[in-house]
Amino acid sequence: MAEKGGYCIPAFNVYNTETVMGVIDAAEEQRAPVIIQIYPRLINEEVGFYIAPAVVAAARRASVPVCFHLDHGAGIPEISRTLYWGATGIMRDASTESFEDNVRLTREIVELCAPLGIGVEGELGHIGSVNDDKMEEFTDPFEAGEFVRKTGVCCLAVLVGNAHGHYKKPPKIDIERIRAIRETTGGIPLVLHGGSGIPDAEVKAAIAAGIRKMNIGTDVCCAFADGTKAALDDPKRSIGIDVFMKRAIASVKALAVEKIKLVGADGKA
Ligand code: 13P
Repeated sequence: MAEKGGYCIPAFNVYNTETVMGVIDAAEEQRAPVIIQIYPRLINEEVGFYIAPAVVAAARRASVPVCFHLDHGAGIPEISRTLYWGATGIMRDASTESFEDNVRLTREIVELCAPLGIGVEGELGHIGSVNDDKMEEFTDPFEAGEFVRKTGVCCLAVLVGNAHGHYKKPPKIDIERIRAIRETTGGIPLVLHGGSGIPDAEVKAAIAAGIRKMNIGTDVCCAFADGTKAALDDPKRSIGIDVFMKRAIASVKALAVEKIKLVGADGKA
């Protein structure tokens, strides 16, 4: 859908039922397709047992397209567990390995997921944290072409000036590199991780160059925390958790609405 329409699908990381509710409320209101994704640590801890069924139930009930994606999958145990729990998309992140090993490990998951009709996102060029001392080398367009041909991934996460977490200063996204990677990969949809805090103009230019999925995690956490704090600080707050959590859900919804509009997914469902 995003490829045809030349826009981008926002992929929100969720952590609990309230963050799922905020994202779904925003998607329904804005008539937007969305991706809901979870970190492997949630899958590997007990949390996944509760949160995965909540995501699937929300996706089934929604009147807009909702995908359930594993973010940064690091191996067969967590990937098969997420597939069992109903994921419709998988990321295999072997970006810290050598090029050859990244190809081999990603290809393995593409083959596992193909009979299920599930597409796999790969990562080339390790996207680290804003706290890393130095950034790894940006994704090489020629390597990206070879990586996509050899693995069969359906979309590719690229390192183009982005990082996970809140940036210490606004990042400069290498738009020319995104364009070059699109060319060498035959126009595969590209993924921009670290979507929290990238200036709006950079996001729009990145989408024009071929970004079709943008991940937003830290901003979801902050929106949830801000909403919860506002509810707790309110002297008239209700002691009923479901009642005061409404502020947190509304805060996540407001953030999701903003990002849906930014990436041009509003009205596309
Ligand atoms: P942020 O937490 O920086 O938004 O990044 C999220 C992400 O890319 C998840 O893979």
